[in-house]
Amino acid sequence: MRSRGVLRILATAALVFAAARPWGAGIIDTKHNLSVTGPGPIKSTTEQELCIFCHTPHSARRDVPYLWSRADPTVSYTTYQSSTLYASVGQPSGASKLCLSCHDGTIALGAVLARPAEIPFAGGLRFMPPGATLLGTDLSDDHPVSFRYDETLAAAKGEFVSPSALTGAVRLDKEGLLQCTACHDPHDSANRKFLVAPNNFGALCTACHDRTQWLASSHATSNATWSGAGTNPWPHTPYPSVAENACENCHRPHTAGAHARLLNYALEEDNCLVCHGGNVAVKNIGAELVKPYRHTVQDYAGVHDAAENFTGTVTKHVECADCHNPHQAVSSPASPPNVPGALRGVKGISASGAPVAAASFTYEICFKCHADNNMLSFAAISRQPPGRGAPIRPGTRRSLRRSSWPRMRGLLPHPSPAQPNRLPSCSA
Ligand code: HEC
Ligand code: HEC
Ligand code: HEC
Ligand code: HEC
Ligand code: HEC
Ligand code: HEC
Ligand code: HEC
Ligand code: HEC
Repeated sequence: MRSRGVLRILATAALVFAAARPWGAGIIDTKHNLSVTGPGPIKSTTEQELCIFCHTPHSARRDVPYLWSRADPTVSYTTYQSSTLYASVGQPSGASKLCLSCHDGTIALGAVLARPAEIPFAGGLRFMPPGATLLGTDLSDDHPVSFRYDETLAAAKGEFVSPSALTGAVRLDKEGLLQCTACHDPHDSANRKFLVAPNNFGALCTACHDRTQWLASSHATSNATWSGAGTNPWPHTPYPSVAENACENCHRPHTAGAHARLLNYALEEDNCLVCHGGNVAVKNIGAELVKPYRHTVQDYAGVHDAAENFTGTVTKHVECADCHNPHQAVSSPASPPNVPGALRGVKGISASGAPVAAASFTYEICFKCHADNNMLSFAAISRQPPGRGAPIRPGTRRSLRRSSWPRMRGLLPHPSPAQPNRLPSCSA
């Protein structure tokens, strides 16, 4: 059925591009027009036809729909993995494989079933050249594809829109799988990068991801812009403000610096200090980190894990994301004893020693590392002066939870529900 539709369109498309056929008109001015009329530098020196690089009315493959004109890649891909991933992501399938027949760089752009010899390209180019459009065969730094996004996943993982609500431009394929085509339409670049919907204000991402309290968070609402000094926080998008960059302030769907969870930078704190170092956000945390007493987030790399819950054995570390949830943080002050907005939605350990999904009290966040687990046994903090003045004295590291709760409740800066007006938080 589908193939016959494509056939009819292909047969007429060549004749009537000017008459604004949906596919022909859409594709002609895009980088996917690889014919001699193509607008980009990557194009053929001889081929007049436009659709031929992907489809053919004749000699098309029978095993895939869409009158497909290209062979499948035969390589094995490294797929996306992370400790928080629910889906089981296998090798690329369906339309994703079709995209990868050019974008993994293993098959020549001009190698199509409809032509007996490879179509020649300007400058003798054969394969997708290095750069952002060459995804390669390592897809572990790309948004996962070719897996089932169903009600079970949405419910088990949480923070997802029901897949049955995807009735707009963002769609799954007819098997219910999330493919490259959920986010891209290879025929239409009306939205940049062939996106099916614009992604400013995170519109594309939030078509599927429903992050708790995201819409009110500072990162979704701040109109702050980049001062122009230091590193450009938005090298891969054209959007000018924090609110407009939304999810892409910290994540990128392809070629991510930190593969797990697709973060812009491999070093955890870089994802925050690019803005909280004085060039975008008012709150300059970078300036705090050069003070003598501090949480040394720069000393650890690759230890923090979003799935950890601080029970059992924990490798010593501390990162911004241990104390903040960037999806929920706001500027609202603490309403004692409840956490201030900056600490909203952060995991903790309760006064009774049990993990909690979102801390109500600031001390619950501190207890993750300064209470029961082996984090207590870390070596002396050499910068602390010896003696009573030291906040955490070498050799005397006892569980703050057990020593202050309940015996000293409300006296140390660990507020008790019974005395909510005493010392509103560990940090105040
Ligand atoms: C760069 C590769 C590429 C080019 C060039 C291309 N297409 Fe496609 N086309 C695809 C892919 C991939 C699919 C299947 C993706 C999907 O599920 O939307 C597809 C699907 C289609 C479909 C089926 C759509 C549907 O929803 O069932 C039609 C019709 C079609 N193409 C027409 C054309 C025409 C006409 C041209 C030339 C003007 C063209 N295409 C050029 C990649 C391409
Ligand atoms: C016939 C080969 C071919 C196929 C098949 C193909 N592409 Fe492309 N694509 C290209 C080329 C060539 C470019 C331009 C690369 C460049 O300029 O670096 C490109 C560019 C892109 C871009 C960047 C556009 C921009 O404006 O910068 C996106 C996004 C893209 N392709 C997505 C896809 C997706 C998704 C599919 C499958 C549905 C697909 N492509 C299938 C050859 C292909
Ligand atoms: C979850 C959504 C999503 C999925 C799935 C997805 N992409 Fe993308 N892709 C994007 C977004 C958003 C951009 C724009 C880049 C940006 O804003 O940083 C993009 C950009 C691209 C680019 C251009 C990169 C550049 O910087 O010029 C290519 C090529 C591309 N995608 C190909 C693919 C291919 C091939 C697949 C399937 C293997 C795929 N995409 C799957 C969202 C997605
Ligand atoms: C078509 C729906 C859809 C769109 C659009 C989409 N995602 Fe996803 N995304 C998913 C699904 C489903 C998963 C798999 C979640 C799982 O199994 O844990 C996922 C996974 C992820 C993961 C990895 C989660 C983990 O625990 O490892 C990140 C990060 C992510 N998406 C970010 C984004 C960003 C940023 C955008 C916008 C550029 C985006 N997504 C657009 C559906 C989508
Ligand atoms: C200010 C930075 C920032 C912004 C903005 C942001 N994220 Fe995240 N995101 C992170 C960090 C950091 C992590 C890893 C958290 C950790 O390591 O504890 C993460 C983790 C995730 C995860 C995987 C873990 C999980 O809880 O499921 C998904 C999915 C995700 N983000 C999606 C999104 C989406 C969708 C948006 C936009 C609506 C977004 N993020 C906006 C920084 C951000
Ligand atoms: C693209 C820039 C950008 C990035 C990246 C970024 N932030 Fe922010 N963040 C802001 C801006 C702007 C605000 C609003 C308050 C301000 O200007 O100081 C904000 C607000 C916050 C707040 C709430 C406090 C308030 O007063 O609104 C917290 C907490 C926070 N960020 C933590 C983080 C963490 C943790 C990361 C890294 C995972 C991060 N941010 C990454 C720009 C950014
Ligand atoms: C993710 C783990 C973690 C969390 C959560 C955490 N800390 Fe720490 N904290 C550490 C580590 C690790 C050190 C030692 C740093 C070093 O060795 O340089 C430390 C050191 C300290 C110090 C001594 C600093 C110095 O420079 O001498 C104080 C005070 C402190 N923490 C208070 C707190 C408070 C208050 C909270 C809750 C708001 C908290 N911590 C939450 C891991 C954590
Ligand atoms: C050990 C826990 C911890 C770590 C690590 C941590 N923070 Fe904070 N952060 C806090 C606490 C506690 C507050 C104060 C909340 C309050 O009482 O208002 C805070 C406040 C903030 C604020 C709001 C500041 C203001 O003046 O209102 C921002 C922005 C912020 N942190 C960003 C970061 C960034 C970026 C990093 C990593 C470089 C980071 N934090 C590391 C615990 C932490």
